[in-house]
This record gives sequence, C-alpha cells and structure tokens, in this order.
Amino acid sequence: MRFDIITIFPNIFKNFLNEALIARAQKKKIVKINIHNLRKWTMDNHKTVDDRPYGGGAGMVMMVEPIMKAVKDLKKRKKAKVIVFSAKGKKFDQAMARRFVKLDQLILICGRYEGIDERVAEYVADEEVSIGDYVLFGGEVPAMVAMEAVTRLLPGAVGKQASIEDESFKHVKGITKKQEARFIEYPHYTRPEKVKINSRVRGVPKVLLTGNHKAIEQWRTKHSRHEH
Ligand SMILES: C[S@@+](CC[C@H](N)C(=O)[O-])C[C@H]1O[C@@H](n2cnc3c(N)ncnc32)[C@H](O)[C@@H]1O
Repeated sequence: MRFDIITIFPNIFKNFLNEALIARAQKKKIVKINIHNLRKWTMDNHKTVDDRPYGGGAGMVMMVEPIMKAVKDLKKRKKAKVIVFSAKGKKFDQAMARRFVKLDQLILICGRYEGIDERVAEYVADEEVSIGDYVLFGGEVPAMVAMEAVTRLLPGAVGKQASIEDESFKHVKGITKKQEARFIEYPHYTRPEKVKINSRVRGVPKVLLTGNHKAIEQWRTKHSRHEH
C-alpha cells in the first residue's frame, strides 16, 4: 500500500512517521509513505499555492492547478484513490478504512486557509472526506488519522492479528452498518487490582480475576455493545 500526501507543511509529518507502529510498518515495507510539498508543482517564483476568493470574503483559497498537477504526477497505481479533506466531506469511519485498505494507493490532499477551490472536490478527487464535525487548521491531522486507521488494518502492521479482529466497529456478519458503527469493544483493566482514586479504592470487575474463560467471555460480550 502506498500513501502520497500533498501538503504545504510537510514537516508536520516527520515525528508522526518516525515513531511506533507506523514507523515499523514502513520498515517492514507494509506501507510506503511519501510526503510531497505542494509548492513543487507551483508555476511562479514565489511558489504560490493560494489566491483571493472570487466574490470576495475573508481568507485565501488553495488553487486548483498545482493540486491537479501533483495528482497527475503521483497517480501511479491501478487501484488508486484521490481523497481531499474537507469539513463538509463524507464522515471517515472504520467501514471507510476497510474500503480503503483494499486499494494499493491513496493520494491524500491536505487543505489550509479557507479551504480548496471547489473544482478539486468536483473534478480532481474521487472522494471528499471529513474526520468529524469540527473545523481544523488544516488537512494534515485528518491525513494522519486516515493513514493510521488504514495502516493498522494491513496484515502485519499490528503485533497480534487478534487485536484488530476483535475491536470496536468490527464487522460482524448479519449486522447492519448502523449497528456496526455502535459496536464498542469491552473495557480493559490491568494491574494493580486495587487502586486509590480520589480517596476511594477502585477495583476491577471480579469476573475478570476468576480465570473462568466462559464467564469472562460472557461479561465481555455483555459490555461490548452500546445501543445509544
Ligand atoms: C480552516 S479549514 C477550512 C474550513 C472551511 N472554511 C469551512 O468552513 O469548512 C482548512 C482545511 O482544513 C481541513 N479540515 C478542516 N477541518 C476538517 C475536518 N473536520 N475534516 C477534514 N478536513 C478538515 C480541510 O482540508 C480544509 O480545507
């Protein structure tokens, strides 16, 4: 799987890509992640990527042409998808991550300023994606979110395969998409068994200490679904 990120702030990704499991996934060649500075595809000496909005108003808008050129240069694989991040896009969720993991290239376009010329969403990108109903400074954090959620679904990216098979939002045959979105994994506890929090001793559910696998399984099933 190959990720190509188009951004005007490539340094934001440095630490993120060089730590923990995302770094390991690259070392193990499970993913190839390329960060591209959009200014590489600009046409003037100032390397301009934005301009004033038609119709007036506050802020600057990212121009379509550099983005279009970048995408043209970077699209290398057959099963490739171009994603543009925007607060008004389709909400990113685990089902979308599962859909993306089947591809072999994801090109992620990160916006800044007031946003991106709408023609990118209409004619250049395949999908417009939001990571939630709030406004961020830019599309770099959304790109990290999508990249991490997709990478951990790739075989070998997570230490134990069971960790990704039995967790929140997992796909269970026969349940609807709506129910799936509500599936939340059971709570976890670890040592110490008793701990003082705000002057009260807090323990862990007794059943988890019994070693009775069947009872533990039942408790976990009972505490796995939240129907709110
Ligand atoms: C400051 S925001 C633009 C906000 C835009 N004027 C609006 O009202 O929706 C700049 C960029 O951040 C990214 N962004 C902000 N919030 C986002 C979200 N919730 N999901 C995905 N991308 C987001 C987008 O790429 C966007 O072009």
